[in-house]
Amino acid sequence: MTEIKKKPIKIVETVLRDAHQSLLATRMSTEQMLPIADKMDQVGYHAVECWGGATFDTSLRFLKEDPWERLRKLKEHFKHTRLQMLLRGQNLLGYSHYSDDVVDYFCRKAVANGIDNIRMMDCLNDIRNLETSMKATKAEGGRAIAALVYTLGDAYTLDYWKDVAKRIEDMGADELGIKDMAGLLTPYRAGELVRALKETVHIPVAMHTHYTAGVASMTYLKSVEAGCDSIDCAISPLALGTSQPATEVMAETFRGTPYDPGLNQELLGEIADYFETIRQEAIESGLLSTKVLGVNIKTLQYQVPGAMMTNLDALQKGAGQEYKYRQVLEEIPRVRRDFGEPPLVTPSSQIVGTQAVMNVICGERYQIILNESKRLLEGQFGQTVKEADPEVKKKIVGDEPCISCRPADLIKPQLAQFERECSPWKQQDEDVLTYAMFPDVAKTYFEYREAQQTGIDLSVADLQSGAYPV
Ligand code: CO
Repeated sequence: MTEIKKKPIKIVETVLRDAHQSLLATRMSTEQMLPIADKMDQVGYHAVECWGGATFDTSLRFLKEDPWERLRKLKEHFKHTRLQMLLRGQNLLGYSHYSDDVVDYFCRKAVANGIDNIRMMDCLNDIRNLETSMKATKAEGGRAIAALVYTLGDAYTLDYWKDVAKRIEDMGADELGIKDMAGLLTPYRAGELVRALKETVHIPVAMHTHYTAGVASMTYLKSVEAGCDSIDCAISPLALGTSQPATEVMAETFRGTPYDPGLNQELLGEIADYFETIRQEAIESGLLSTKVLGVNIKTLQYQVPGAMMTNLDALQKGAGQEYKYRQVLEEIPRVRRDFGEPPLVTPSSQIVGTQAVMNVICGERYQIILNESKRLLEGQFGQTVKEADPEVKKKIVGDEPCISCRPADLIKPQLAQFERECSPWKQQDEDVLTYAMFPDVAKTYFEYREAQQTGIDLSVADLQSGAYPV
């Protein structure tokens, strides 16, 4: 075994993206971010994750903010620190594949507006779905971090992960990520995985996990000892629970060791004070539920991401079927097996989760078949690690043709069409991409923006209540 070099660990701060997505339903506004941005820029973070995931959708839908504008404003403050985003490969920030011209344009615009690192992943670990975003990111001068979406199952052996990692490196990624969205990586398992990957690739390895099952700080400790290059942390008031391990705790853990990240602890304290106020307000308003702050070991048992469990909870309540919650949790792994054992992350988590709910509510499995389930089994999202269950596949897909190529090879260019459809509202090039991601939400936002500009007073509450004609 090769000796592992001990070196300072790099810290990626997630408070402006994953932490508030995990704890505050992604409701942190630009106005709440900007006053602390200059201090954050002085800490010595490797990068600050601030965009992508649900931030884009939520800022348009609920905060009535232009996500591009947020990015440009953040960039004015982060002069020394790289800004990072999360991208779902060929899905971009949406839920199904886009044509290559849209993916290319989006990545270029993200970098042009201030993103330095694009961390990209595919929900099936089918890395063909990362080709276009990786090429575009690099062409625009951004850093392409391609992440393995971590999950468990017999197909997911160390050899499997090493093989995907090698192919990611060969594709030209600047960095390899491990994205453990469900917090399934226990400390020793993480150490073993990181060691195996470090022996396989030469590019840096970044670790991302969630605190949900309560083991994440130990997972980072073992990962760092195994040679991992960076870890994702959140400043303490918005850490733990379904979020990341706390930045200050990890910095203290490694202080005085060869792994010391060298962050400015005094500034970290001031930043924590700032976010403490936001935490308190969120607890008082009910936005931050103490339920998500505890340890939820069930995530290890059911292997279901915390966010997905919360969504299911709501869905079950909506259907007036709370008592079936448990049955759904048990149905999820079965559906996942039927579908070829995909990892559970957007959009596969929604597809598997919703299909599981349908199966339980109907009382008969696959009596109602989601259109997305059909598309997944047809290969429209790419290749799953295993074949789907033949009987289930027959029931869902029937005699329709399946595909085995990279799905986007069959998607004709879409950008011109989006340009045409968006033209009545377009005020900047980026609007077309906003429209392409979420057409309905974008239209509502564009009309709100116009109304603001013409002096018509519309409150956000009016819009949410649907009082505003769309
Ligand atoms: Co995450």
